[in-house]
Amino acid sequence: MRKKIVAGNWKMNKNLQEGIALATELNDILKADKPNCDVVICTPFIHLASVAGIIDQSVIGLGAENCADKASGAYTGEVSAEMVKSTGAGYVILGHSERRAYYGETAEILKEKINLALANGLKVIFCIGEVLEERESGKQNEVVEAQLAGSLFDLTAEQFANIILAYEPVWAIGTGKTATAEQAEEMHAFIRGVIAGKFGAEAAENVSILYGGSCKPSNAKEIFSKENVDGGLIGGAALKAADFKGIIDAWK
Ligand code: PGA
Repeated sequence: MRKKIVAGNWKMNKNLQEGIALATELNDILKADKPNCDVVICTPFIHLASVAGIIDQSVIGLGAENCADKASGAYTGEVSAEMVKSTGAGYVILGHSERRAYYGETAEILKEKINLALANGLKVIFCIGEVLEERESGKQNEVVEAQLAGSLFDLTAEQFANIILAYEPVWAIGTGKTATAEQAEEMHAFIRGVIAGKFGAEAAENVSILYGGSCKPSNAKEIFSKENVDGGLIGGAALKAADFKGIIDAWK
């Protein structure tokens, strides 16, 4: 049975003290009321080591929001997958639309990042999704399939077992405009079919596919109720413990 997951993406929010406070609050809340799903928080790099020391990772997993496409060396300002792993983190988000759009991350660059993340024992939350114009011209399936093929199709089935997918229609991210549960289900079923075609039925059945884009306590239950939706990647609503908990409780 594939895992149900609610993952938070803090993006570039919270200074270190605020991040520690949020992680502490979440840890206390979730230890007192155990979730029915895997919970992961993905934080800025500088928070990772401190947060790793605070949370009980049997209740909350920890991840980064990015890692370098190089293993080590003279790459000023970059943070490697090995460094992320050494903080105690177990996950990394790769391919987020903000990284693709603002930092020029191509399918090729993402391939390097994925390889390094997997080689260092990190699970990858790989984001895919179309922009509004692509949706309006009916190209969303084509776009998402190309994103999957461009960065994941050289993996072995064994490597692919450490990939979590996150479908995030770009027009729904931070806009307050969610995809309908039907739109999410339709795309998730399509994605599972693409994965089945490449990696086989078992891999497709086992891969968790999260929905992301303006997910909140009030809409999570409906979206998560769909057969092919295995949880969410949460931005804005992951910044308040009560909201994030409300989404986690959608699995109860
Ligand atoms: P949002 O962001 O929940 O604020 O829309 C989701 C994401 O970008 O992962």
